[in-house]
Amino acid sequence: MMPAPKLGPPFFLVALDVVDSTNDEAKRLAQRGFGHGTVLWAQEQTAGRGRRGRPWVSPRGNLHLSVIIDPGRPLREAAQLGFVAAVALCDTLAALAPQARFECKWPNDVWCNGRKIAGMLLEGTGVDDLLILGIGVDVVAAPDPALYPATSLREVGCEEGAGAVLAGFCNHLLPLLAEWRDEGFGAARDAWVQRARGIGEKAVVRLDGETLTGVFVGLDDDGGLRLELPDGTGRRILAGDVFFPGS
Ligand code: BTN
Repeated sequence: MMPAPKLGPPFFLVALDVVDSTNDEAKRLAQRGFGHGTVLWAQEQTAGRGRRGRPWVSPRGNLHLSVIIDPGRPLREAAQLGFVAAVALCDTLAALAPQARFECKWPNDVWCNGRKIAGMLLEGTGVDDLLILGIGVDVVAAPDPALYPATSLREVGCEEGAGAVLAGFCNHLLPLLAEWRDEGFGAARDAWVQRARGIGEKAVVRLDGETLTGVFVGLDDDGGLRLELPDGTGRRILAGDVFFPGS
C-alpha cells in the first residue's frame, strides 16, 4: 500500500485497498454519519463508474478518490462544484507536471496534451445535502479509451504517485471551495473558462438520440455548455459528450 499523505482539516482520509467504487463506499459512509471533508482513497476499484453509466477502469497506481462535501449552497448550484474541482485538479496536475499542457474539458474532465487524463463524477448521497465528488486520475496507466484518447502522468514524464496528486488536489480545492461557498460561482467560472478546451471552436455534442454541431461559446451559471448552432440560435447542454473535431 502506498504511504498515505497527511491531509489538514477539514479533510479526513479513509485509505482503502480494494473497493467496488469509492463513490459507492462514500455513500455508505455518509449514511453512517461521515460528513464534510471525508476523503476516500482506494488503490483499486472493481466497479468504478464514469459519467453516463460508463465503466471506469481502475488499475492499481491510478488515483481513485471520493470526497464527501457539504456544499453550503443551494442544491440547484451543486453542478458548479464539478467546475470548481476541475480547476483545482487542473492546477494540481500542472504544478506536478509543468512540462505538459493541461486543460479543463466540459463538463468536468481534465485533459493533458490533447488527451483525457482525469474525470469526475458528482453524485448525491441521499443524506441531507451532502454530495460526493468522485475523481479518477490516470497516474501510471491510461486504460484503453472507450470514447476519448487517454494519457497518464507517467506518459508525459511525471514520476509523482497518486498520493502526491491527492494531497495537491486537497490543497488546491480548499481555497476555491471556500471562495465558491462565500461568494458564488463567478471566480471559479472565470478560472474554468480560462483553462477550458475548445471555447470558440466547432464542437460536436452527442446527446441521447441526437447529435448537434455548433460553436462552443461559453459556460452558463448552471455549468451548462452554451452552443451556438449554424442558424444562429443557442442551445444549452446539461449532459452529453463533446468532441472538438478541429483539435
Ligand atoms: C468520467 O470521466 O466519466 C468520470 C470518471 C470518474 C471516476 C471516479 S474514480 C473514483 C470515483 N469512483 C467511481 O466509481 N467513479 C469515480
